[in-house]
Amino acid sequence: MTVSMSAVCLKLLTIFYLCSTALTGSGSNGVVRKDFKGSITIQCRFTEGDPDNLTVKKGLSEDQVLYREKDSEKNTITAEFRSRLQVYGKFPNLDILIKNLSSEDTGPYWCTYETFNKKTKQPEIKIGTGSVLLVVADADTEKKCEDSNKSLVLVSVVITAVVLLTIIVTFCIWILKTKNLRTTAKPRRVANNDVYEDMRGTIRR
Ligand SMILES: *[C@@H]1O[C@H](CO)[C@@H](O)[C@H](O)[C@H]1NC(C)=O
Ligand SMILES: *[C@@H]1O[C@H](CO)[C@@H](O)[C@H](O)[C@H]1NC(C)=O
Repeated sequence: MTVSMSAVCLKLLTIFYLCSTALTGSGSNGVVRKDFKGSITIQCRFTEGDPDNLTVKKGLSEDQVLYREKDSEKNTITAEFRSRLQVYGKFPNLDILIKNLSSEDTGPYWCTYETFNKKTKQPEIKIGTGSVLLVVADADTEKKCEDSNKSLVLVSVVITAVVLLTIIVTFCIWILKTKNLRTTAKPRRVANNDVYEDMRGTIRR
């Protein structure tokens, strides 16, 4: 009974922890947590030099999300993101807004700039600032959070009931005890009466 109770408590705590971390947006070290159907703005910045193009890449396989050239307003957006991606700002510093996030969008996003090195006559890839690791809570986690909120309500109701019950039981015990005291006090009075009776007896004598 107590073992299963503590197991339930542990599970509730874990879910509660997951929920609270899912809800506390961005942290340090470039990890950004977002809700299911939320949105993110990736702020790609480049300070050193004059790059020719920017490619926003996603994941460890570095799939292309967005490609933009220096003197062009044209954004080449991958089909997966086309309906929900917007680009703001002036090259090379671009804000990339992605809406309607789902758990499939979880992963690292890289701001990779290419420059042409005139000395070596070779293109160079440089990572700008603004790369993030995006973590999107899935619909399932959201549902678990709702469930955990429900169970939290249930738990508080149960705790309130237990507290009330404890108060009632304590009160009952207290009443019984005082009643017992009165009943144990009675024989003494009886004894007193005996004394009185004894005295009456001596008076009568
Ligand atoms: C959001 O994305 C889902 C698929 O992940 C799609 O079914 C839904 O229509 C999209 N909603 C909006 C408002 O774009
Ligand atoms: C981006 O710029 C680099 C450096 O100038 C160039 O080598 C590369 O071909 C460009 N990328 C595309 C897709 O044109």
